[in-house]
Amino acid sequence: MSAPMSAVAAAAYLHHMELQSANPARLAEFYDRVMQMKAEKLKAEKLEGDRFICRGADRTMLIGKGRDKALGFAAFACRDAEALEGVRLYVERAGGKIEKSPSPLFDDRAFAVRDPEGNAIVFGLAKTPAGAASRDIRGPLQHITFGSTDLVPMEKFYVSVLGMALSDRVKDDKGRMTTCFVRSTHEHHTVGMFLKPEAGLDHHSYEAGEWTTIRDWGDHLGALHEPIVWGPGRHGPGNNLFIFIKDPDGNMIEISAEIEYVRDRPVMEWKHEPYTLNSWGPAIMRI
Ligand SMILES: [Fe+2]
Repeated sequence: MSAPMSAVAAAAYLHHMELQSANPARLAEFYDRVMQMKAEKLKAEKLEGDRFICRGADRTMLIGKGRDKALGFAAFACRDAEALEGVRLYVERAGGKIEKSPSPLFDDRAFAVRDPEGNAIVFGLAKTPAGAASRDIRGPLQHITFGSTDLVPMEKFYVSVLGMALSDRVKDDKGRMTTCFVRSTHEHHTVGMFLKPEAGLDHHSYEAGEWTTIRDWGDHLGALHEPIVWGPGRHGPGNNLFIFIKDPDGNMIEISAEIEYVRDRPVMEWKHEPYTLNSWGPAIMRI
């Protein structure tokens, strides 16, 4: 019998996610060509329209038919079956409503729970281990961020219901929280949320690890004539280096390096200003 276990204790990491698109084939082609994630049509599913799986080294994206820029779900893998059961008990004890997992990549022990803005967060066990040898440029899927119209209940959900740890907050002059970062591993954030006029997916990120690997991504993107739309820069919270590109649906994709490993430091509060978001200068402010 498992005991309740927080997402941090379960070492839950972002294993895969699903994007929805009005044109799944076009989006899958982009992730295949640009993000080095080999695209295949998923078979044996009674689904309307096409659904694709795009897989690279430690990065997997499902693409289903739907509204452009909508998130299907974000799926976190736990370290083992005891941890997964522990997270389920933790969520149930905190009053979270358990739903059936929509992911074909986790086994039937997986479950989903929705945050206050309706984003589906799935926990499960990876059927195939991460870390396959590959010549692809390094970039494991690492974090996802949301726009939110009310960050207070969102932070409460991720911390109190899922058991993620608060890393940092950004606040404006009036004391209003404008950004919040939470983690389910030692990495500074596996989920981030920005105060915005509209809720929904903000961006997702691949962790290249080292600055020189961002260089390799830049060379690869340049050869494909895929423009960098923001960066290079360095975030204040998380201290990670970054570049951003956009997929054909307009989803923002981050390639990051050197994200902070948080062990035993207090939560920090940052000022809401462009130099917090990018300590090298130009920032895409959400509000
Ligand atoms: Fe990010």
